[in-house]
Amino acid sequence: MLKKYIPIFCILFYQLFYAQNKLLIPDTLSGNNFNLIVENGSISFYPNIQTKTIGVNGNLLGPTLILYKGIQVQMNVKNNLSDTTTIHWHGMHIAPENDGGPHTVIPPGTTWNPKFTVMDNASTYWYHPHLHKKTAEHVTKGVAGFIIIRDDQEAKLNLPRKYGVDDVPIVVQSRAFDVNKQFIVRSELDSVILVNGTKNPYLQVPAQIVRFRLLNGSTERTYNFGFTGNKSFYQISGDGGLLNAPVLLTRLRLAPGERGEILVDFKTMQGQSIYLMSYASELSNGIIGSSSVGMGGSLPDYSNNKLNGTNFNILKIDVIAPTQNPITIIPSSLILNTPFSLSSANVTRELTFTSIGGMMSATGPFVINGTPFSMENINYNIPLNNTEIWELRNQTLIAHPFHIHDVQFYLLTRNGVQVPLNERGRKDVVLVEPMEIVRFITKFEDFTNPTVPYMYHCHLLTHEDDGMMGQFLVTSATEIEEEKTSLPNDFYLYQNYPNPFNSSTIIIYQIPFESFVTLKVFDILGREVTTIVNEFQKSGKYKLEFSLPSSDISSGLYFYRLQAGDFVQTKKFVFMK
Ligand code: C2O
Ligand code: CU
Ligand code: CU
Repeated sequence: MLKKYIPIFCILFYQLFYAQNKLLIPDTLSGNNFNLIVENGSISFYPNIQTKTIGVNGNLLGPTLILYKGIQVQMNVKNNLSDTTTIHWHGMHIAPENDGGPHTVIPPGTTWNPKFTVMDNASTYWYHPHLHKKTAEHVTKGVAGFIIIRDDQEAKLNLPRKYGVDDVPIVVQSRAFDVNKQFIVRSELDSVILVNGTKNPYLQVPAQIVRFRLLNGSTERTYNFGFTGNKSFYQISGDGGLLNAPVLLTRLRLAPGERGEILVDFKTMQGQSIYLMSYASELSNGIIGSSSVGMGGSLPDYSNNKLNGTNFNILKIDVIAPTQNPITIIPSSLILNTPFSLSSANVTRELTFTSIGGMMSATGPFVINGTPFSMENINYNIPLNNTEIWELRNQTLIAHPFHIHDVQFYLLTRNGVQVPLNERGRKDVVLVEPMEIVRFITKFEDFTNPTVPYMYHCHLLTHEDDGMMGQFLVTSATEIEEEKTSLPNDFYLYQNYPNPFNSSTIIIYQIPFESFVTLKVFDILGREVTTIVNEFQKSGKYKLEFSLPSSDISSGLYFYRLQAGDFVQTKKFVFMK
């Protein structure tokens, strides 16, 4: 008798207590000048408990930046934390010094003011911190925001574009909470799903064609997006631009960092509810979120996490009355993507992923080409305008979402087979499954910098922080020439001890002739930080205390330049407070 009522009670309970929070839609900022303040905050995810957070212009996440291709923007990023951070514009084609990677730190209390022209195609991008070893922490605490880029080609298409109404940004993030309901940065027990920072969310959509801009903003978990009852939808955009035509799907797998815009037809569903779900039971082994990772589930707590390998709801969608002038048709074609031709490739680079904890290890640490990331080591020097094929070889039992800065790429093959239609647009993240070989082609255009590198890394943020990252310089031919210029061998400049530099590092140099000598320190943007020597000197060997004014300069990458007469030598160094 009682049994009969249990299902009804469960449904009631579900409706009252499960999908109870209206999905938060981030505010938008647009124009040319953007003020972003990274600050501490708190949110009540659980009754009467405040969870400590970090947000941009608020408690959690940040405003959506609406940018138009071709315009110049000025970003003013103020760091109100007591910790250094950075802000990276993920997916955008920007000069290295404006990209916000780990070398471009924003110390506490300071403001970073990059200025750049938006060169990217219309799509969904995002911003997040990128401080070396702290990316996972800062993102988990809440720093992330959408960037929506619009352009003329997209504007001509009959697509939903009413932000928050029929064009909805959706960032999905899983979180683990400790007993005090504070975020845990590293845990396999990430059992709470937040959508736009909302726990147990629901969203009202009009009964028409609706565009969802899906972003996987999780540190590790992959989602296999779909709807209740396998309702189909169309993918229209990958990471960095529209596809040639909408692709009909019932599942869209997105790994951390990946974006996908989809169109869903709700025309006949007014008054009904449906869920955006993750069909995680269908994910292949080795992908975080699937039923098993590594041999025998070797990640601690992995098998105790109820989300792994099960299908679960992410967002409740209630279909309401259509808007005025609704979009009712799915366009038959979008834009024309023209991938770089294979014959134009100057070089093929192989990047092999291995675990230095042993082949069978699911915990790593994982490395690319055998070496963990080092701030001081440049992994590749790429000539400007090179077209390159990168071959990613995953020799581990865990799937890694590979991401590269500066460029968008076109996927060529997965294990020698051409990728499916929905992966043939411009991309900046690709999930490489265990033992899989993925090839892509890209071109390094427009920006060079002899000292500030771009990053490539695994977008599982814990792997990135643990060293599954590398960096490359894009340099013009003349810059490479200059680096190769040989100096008289009695003209020396070298660092001595300690390394990295601190405020009492000793350096020694030798000059072969009497001349006017300067030794200056510059930051990565080429601004002079301090002059150490500026005088006429006799030939000989000089030893001096580097004595950087550590109160004025922050930890990071710098370079120093010794000039004696016509001879110049420049060296890069890392300064640690
Ligand atoms: Cu989304 Cu290098 O990061
Ligand atoms: Cu990025
Ligand atoms: Cu990884």
